[in-house]
Amino acid sequence: MKVAIIGGGPAGLYAAILLKKQRPQAEITVHERNRADDTFGFGVVFSDATLDNFEKYDPLSYRRITQEFAYWDDIAVHFRGTVHRVGGNGFCGCSRRMLLLILQERARELGVTLEFETDIDDESRFSDADLIVLADGINSRFRDKHVDHFQPEVDLRSNKFAWMGSTRPLDAFTFIFQETEWGPFIAHAYQYEAGRSTWIFETDAETFARAGLEGLSERQSADRMAEIFGWFLDGHPLLTNRSMWRNFPMIRSERWVKGNMVLLGDAKATAHFSIGSGTKLAMEDAIALADAMAKSSTVGAALQTYEHGRREEVEKTQHAADVSLVWFEHVDRFWDFDPVQFAFGVMTRAKAITYDNLTLRAPEFVREVDKAFAKQVRAKGFDVNIDKPMAPMFQPLKLREMEVANRAVVSPMCMYSAKEGVPGDFHLVHYGSRAIGGAGLIFTEMTCVGRDARITPGCTGLWNDEQQAAWTRIVDFVHANSATRICLQLGHAGRKGATKLMWEGMDRPLEQGGWDTISASPLPYFPDSQVPREMDRAAMDRVKQEFVAAALRGEACGFDMLELHCAHGYLLASFISPLTNQRTDEYGGTLANRLRYPLEIFEALRAAWPAHKPMSVRISATDWAEGGITGDDAVVIARAFAEAGVDLVDVSTGQTVRDAQPVYGRMFQTPFSEQVRNEARVATMCVGNITTADQANTILAAGRADLVALGRPHLVDPSFTMRAAAWYGASDIACPPQYLPGKEQIFRNSVRDRQDFEDLKIKGKPKTRAELKAEATKPLAAE
Ligand SMILES: Cc1cc2nc3c(=O)[nH]c(=O)nc-3n(C[C@H](O)[C@H](O)[C@H](O)COP(=O)(O)OP(=O)(O)OC[C@H]3O[C@@H](n4cnc5c(N)ncnc54)[C@H](O)[C@@H]3O)c2cc1C
Ligand SMILES: Cc1cc2nc3c(=O)[nH]c(=O)nc-3n(C[C@H](O)[C@H](O)[C@H](O)COP(=O)(O)O)c2cc1C
Repeated sequence: MKVAIIGGGPAGLYAAILLKKQRPQAEITVHERNRADDTFGFGVVFSDATLDNFEKYDPLSYRRITQEFAYWDDIAVHFRGTVHRVGGNGFCGCSRRMLLLILQERARELGVTLEFETDIDDESRFSDADLIVLADGINSRFRDKHVDHFQPEVDLRSNKFAWMGSTRPLDAFTFIFQETEWGPFIAHAYQYEAGRSTWIFETDAETFARAGLEGLSERQSADRMAEIFGWFLDGHPLLTNRSMWRNFPMIRSERWVKGNMVLLGDAKATAHFSIGSGTKLAMEDAIALADAMAKSSTVGAALQTYEHGRREEVEKTQHAADVSLVWFEHVDRFWDFDPVQFAFGVMTRAKAITYDNLTLRAPEFVREVDKAFAKQVRAKGFDVNIDKPMAPMFQPLKLREMEVANRAVVSPMCMYSAKEGVPGDFHLVHYGSRAIGGAGLIFTEMTCVGRDARITPGCTGLWNDEQQAAWTRIVDFVHANSATRICLQLGHAGRKGATKLMWEGMDRPLEQGGWDTISASPLPYFPDSQVPREMDRAAMDRVKQEFVAAALRGEACGFDMLELHCAHGYLLASFISPLTNQRTDEYGGTLANRLRYPLEIFEALRAAWPAHKPMSVRISATDWAEGGITGDDAVVIARAFAEAGVDLVDVSTGQTVRDAQPVYGRMFQTPFSEQVRNEARVATMCVGNITTADQANTILAAGRADLVALGRPHLVDPSFTMRAAAWYGASDIACPPQYLPGKEQIFRNSVRDRQDFEDLKIKGKPKTRAELKAEATKPLAAE
């Protein structure tokens, strides 16, 4: 077998090693345009898990690599004169140059041919090769040459960054967030061998320009960085090696394989440097390719196996890197945070690290986070314990005169079980049990302001006395038997009205017994849905009156809070999104125009709703569709409602148009809540695939939302909050006297369960290499 590898970086060399080990008879050549020891960059970083993989696949190179490594366990975050350290991270750094020399040596020993100073510009010279590996890096010539086939998507990010080095020793992966007269600068730094550390500097484009970095030479810009970070560099110089400032290209390729050619490493996909995974991904690609070659009978089959088997893992890493890079791009959102909360945000930015996870690794740090959170709550007038603070989820919140005892919320969820809009016994049990279950706040399902405002024949309403009496019964039960507050969500279905019950066909038009629908524009939801009537001013006035009348009834029922539903493609959302609003009057066109009618309704409600009771608005912060609402629009929308007196923005997304492409995942809508909260400076509630109290605490502690709503988890577990309270020892949680023995039992058992769980986790966790090394070098204790 003949294998041609273009590019002698980590991907190309490691692929050569593994393939040669597997097929000693194969003729494998690596073609590299540079000289053997002619490399850019400084250190590379690997996690313990990656090193375990290297050990398994080639113990010899693993041993040589790890001999050269610097190990560390801690991440240190420097911000506004403070430093927070968190242990247990298990990372290693190594010089990129040394890594390449080790891989070259190993490849040579195995019989791989290495051709340096060979710039390949045409793959046809390898027409006799069985396999051509394109490992030619981030600017891959061959990916570009076959652009129509590989279909790369290159997303050039807005921040500027440059790699440099220093002799400054470091004992932790170090993030420094530095305020300057021009704006914020960030350093990501780690040691990779004795006396050498990598320094990646990052800043936004405006700060970059204001700092006069444009057009400076490498040396001059290094000097400017040394001035900014001089207090930390401690007299150590900054070193350069092709340390040009650039914008990070996030690269994804639709295809990785063409015939017998395969893209590997940065050539196929990149991952932002803030999660330190570029070299790791490159070498793990090589492992995946070698595995696929071992398993398959033909090269073609192997390449398909490689692409199909590897894609999900790469995309997962890229997603984590994306989330991380967005955090760094928007660091100004958190710039006025308490430093410990800021550090918590840095640690948890990419979802893998959570509140509970940090509690195990760095309990002192989490206690500081809890204290800072409790202090903020105390500053709002609550008499909460700061020395022994509760977890953030169990800290109270005040909106106008309404106090909620904890931050867990039952999200609004249609039950499709009302008769002529009247909630019945099912609803009493449903809302009642969730209130007893301990949530701080529960939302009603979308309750419709008129018969024709309903989504389905099973939706609840609040337009007549019978409905009002039924809702009063529910509200009274909640108030009499729990400390939970209850918020009425009012809405109008718009073009999604006159549809079937969820379990009979979500959003599908009723075949019989439907009613006429209205919307901002006469656009059906499905092609075969009813075409809604475009609202004229008379219809707008009528619907406004219906909203106000329903709100007044809601007040009479005793609801504690009112939410206006402006999300999910219903009537008011249909005005806000440009995808559903094609009006040419003053209610269409610009975002300000599209917001006019929803704001008009909100203002009418605000005037009718008692001043001491809070109001929220639910929005779709993105349509997940080309040309639709984006996170930036959501900030403008939130500001407009805040000016009109909204107390909380309930940040949901999507459900506007059928062809949307939401990116699901854990907590997938939370980034929008974070953006709205910290850019529009308004309290937010987040929702969407949040399933654990740990996630809720992580979100709250990092300042990504003020309340956390859970929908589906509450459908199967009315006592979600009670269980979480037991886990975190929040014994103040209200419980009706009838259920006290159950509460006492779960609180008692939880202490033991939690201890067992933590012991198991700690025992089950393998020691990091840094811990092992520290143990091995520890002097023996005196007898
Ligand atoms: C300027 C810069 C500095 C970096 N510094 C670091 C760092 O300090 N630490 C870190 O972890 N990561 C660093 N990275 C990222 C890291 O290098 C990559 O994620 C990782 O090296 C990817 O490995 P690779 O083998 O896919 O690509 P590369 O390492 O880029 O290797 C590709 C190789 O292909 C060669 N090549 C390209 N075209 C041809 C051709 N036509 N013919 C022959 N040879 C060719 C190149 O010379 C190169 O050696 C840096 C990236 C850049 C751009
Ligand atoms: C059965 C069901 C009914 C829903 N009804 C409503 C509703 O009436 N009003 C609303 O704003 N959102 C509604 N939603 C959306 C939820 O409030 C929530 O935003 C969504 O389920 C995502 O949260 P989760 O992942 O915690 O379930 C509904 C969701 C479900 C599953």
